[in-house]
Amino acid sequence: MSLLIRHARLLTLATGVRPRRGPALRELGLVARGDVLVQDGKIAAVGPDLTAPDGAEIVDADGRVLMPGFVDCHTHACWAGERIGEWEELIGGVPYLDILKRGGGIHATVRAVREATRKQLASALRERLDLMLRAGTTTVEVKSGYGLTIEAELKMLHAIQRAGHEWPGTVVPTALLGHAIEGDADDYTRMVVREMLPAVWHEFPGIAIDAYCEREAWPVEACVRLFERARKHGLPVRVHTDQFSSLGMIPEALRLHAASVDHLEAASNADLAALAESHTVGVVLPVSGFETNRRFARARRLVDAGGIVALATNCNPGTAPSHSMPFAIALAVRCCGLTPAEAIVAATVNAANVLGLTDRGTIDVGQRADLILLRHKDERLLAYELGGNPIDLVISGGKLVAGAPAQR
Ligand code: NIG
Repeated sequence: MSLLIRHARLLTLATGVRPRRGPALRELGLVARGDVLVQDGKIAAVGPDLTAPDGAEIVDADGRVLMPGFVDCHTHACWAGERIGEWEELIGGVPYLDILKRGGGIHATVRAVREATRKQLASALRERLDLMLRAGTTTVEVKSGYGLTIEAELKMLHAIQRAGHEWPGTVVPTALLGHAIEGDADDYTRMVVREMLPAVWHEFPGIAIDAYCEREAWPVEACVRLFERARKHGLPVRVHTDQFSSLGMIPEALRLHAASVDHLEAASNADLAALAESHTVGVVLPVSGFETNRRFARARRLVDAGGIVALATNCNPGTAPSHSMPFAIALAVRCCGLTPAEAIVAATVNAANVLGLTDRGTIDVGQRADLILLRHKDERLLAYELGGNPIDLVISGGKLVAGAPAQR
């Protein structure tokens, strides 16, 4: 099947090395008016006035922006139950960690997830994935972490895999094995490192391992034990760190060559400087700061120091009830100090890098054809507009999967 998109304002992002850091984070690879030919799921040609092969479907973009689909590289989109009562407390000023400490928050979702079947979890996730797709996300990372037992974590990972198989975009599962602690901390973390981790890597070879390093969650030493074992077996590691407290996890994550350190709202200047010198990506999650305490990662400082930044929704029932990358972009520009161009690169090519995916995130010959056509003719409107859906058309793996190819 062939598809030709004509007369688009192209953000190819296809200049420079990946991932992008420093000034290269602003390079959109703009082609003011160009065409993109898609064949067999991949980008076959990019240029002015391309000829449509026989039988090709043609979309006239009429100057609208065509860019790579969003890669949402940090979500907890697989959950059961609701936390709407707690949410009223949260926005009324009760701190997130207080709710967690009294057995709510993550623990409330754990109880609901344990009661749900794999099928119910997959179907709830699928509904959220469809919302994401309509908002322009074509690749989504989804974490486990609401099971806390081997059986329940594996149930989540299988549900994530199943929903991913049914969805037209790409789902990348991550094993969030250190999300919370049940019972005695030493016994529990030992069980996770010695039993849960091997059980997970046997069923999901190569899967990334994640933990939440925070007061009331996993301490630095336990995260280090988990990650050292995971790295020894060649698994990528990622860590939620410095969301509310700076506990010293960032230097350990850099020592262990973590793929990413995510959150960073409380990160110190020294830790941001060390991160900027490394190959680890700083993933900023501004929806959570907006939802909990109005504290945000200082992405401007990280970028100016030469660091690699990616952006994600963090979609979850506690700190980020949003499936929308356009909303995350709008917040990253207002609250984390990124320019619109930087936020776009952070939400596409750099986010793909966090997931180890180099076959997407740019409009370049040979790349997977994951593309979005915006309603706008100026990409800055993606960051300017608040709360709308700027997406006219979504193409995943070369197929039109959301929106209608309206001719203008
Ligand atoms: O990144 N803080 C840890 N994990 C999520 C929240 C998960 C939840 O509250 O259910 C986060 O914000």
